[in-house]
Amino acid sequence: MIVCTNKSEIQDLITKEKAKGTTFGFVPTMGALHNGHMSLVKRALQENDFCVVSIFVNPTQFDNEEDLKKYPRTLERDVELLKTVSNKIIVYAPSVDDIYEGNTKSEHFSFDGLEFEMEGKFRQGHFDGVGTIVKRLFEIVTPDIAYFGEKDFQQLAIIKKLAQKYNIPVTVKGCEIFREENGLAYSSRNERLKPDYKKAAPFIFETLTTAKEKFGTKSAKEVTEWVEKQFAKNKFLELEYFIIADISTLKTVKRKSKSKTYRAFVAAYADDIRLIDNLALN
Ligand code: PAF
Repeated sequence: MIVCTNKSEIQDLITKEKAKGTTFGFVPTMGALHNGHMSLVKRALQENDFCVVSIFVNPTQFDNEEDLKKYPRTLERDVELLKTVSNKIIVYAPSVDDIYEGNTKSEHFSFDGLEFEMEGKFRQGHFDGVGTIVKRLFEIVTPDIAYFGEKDFQQLAIIKKLAQKYNIPVTVKGCEIFREENGLAYSSRNERLKPDYKKAAPFIFETLTTAKEKFGTKSAKEVTEWVEKQFAKNKFLELEYFIIADISTLKTVKRKSKSKTYRAFVAAYADDIRLIDNLALN
């Protein structure tokens, strides 16, 4: 296993290997690796010769200093975990300076309106930060295929748009949400859930699952109202939004159409921890 902490080191390595025809899958992460990340890494290893895993807590995508400060940083443990999977993994764990070269600011992007929906409404500047880091990482790593979890479905849509708009020669693949046995979607934030909140959190997936059933016969508005009522009764979870959206525009559905594909999206607070999840409805 190779761990690189600066971009020239990893670029040299990848350039040499690519000249021999080696293919690279890429799993960008902010570390605190969990089974969800590991499923992406395993898929990347099945489909490519090597998997690059970047571990970088990107400051420009946080709109809240406290959240950035508290974000778990567990590089040693992450590297040990990756070692148990394969020696065909290259870890890129840069410093803020290696990425931002003294100017820790986001570029500004247009993602054709995708950035204004859901997370974009609640997390100021978040997708400019994500666009900035992912574009830079794609330029440094030059992967053949990059893998992202569908838990961050809006992020995945935005990254596909980024690759398309900037003609970045990478295939962006979305991978199914990896869940704990109780349905809770794996997230690095789950580690920080206090016991009562950890117990309450699977309610998010349970509610999504029932919302999906109801969506078969009820309107999006009726389902949304039902979900909001369920959350209002739950003393451990505070709903930030529940939205049923068309997956191509991410806009809230007004009237259902048989020809469109919909997904339900949730963001909720468990104490001070913000959890998101989503589920395909049709
Ligand atoms: O999903 C994440 O962990 C981050 O948003 C990403 C894609 C690694 C960019 O920092």
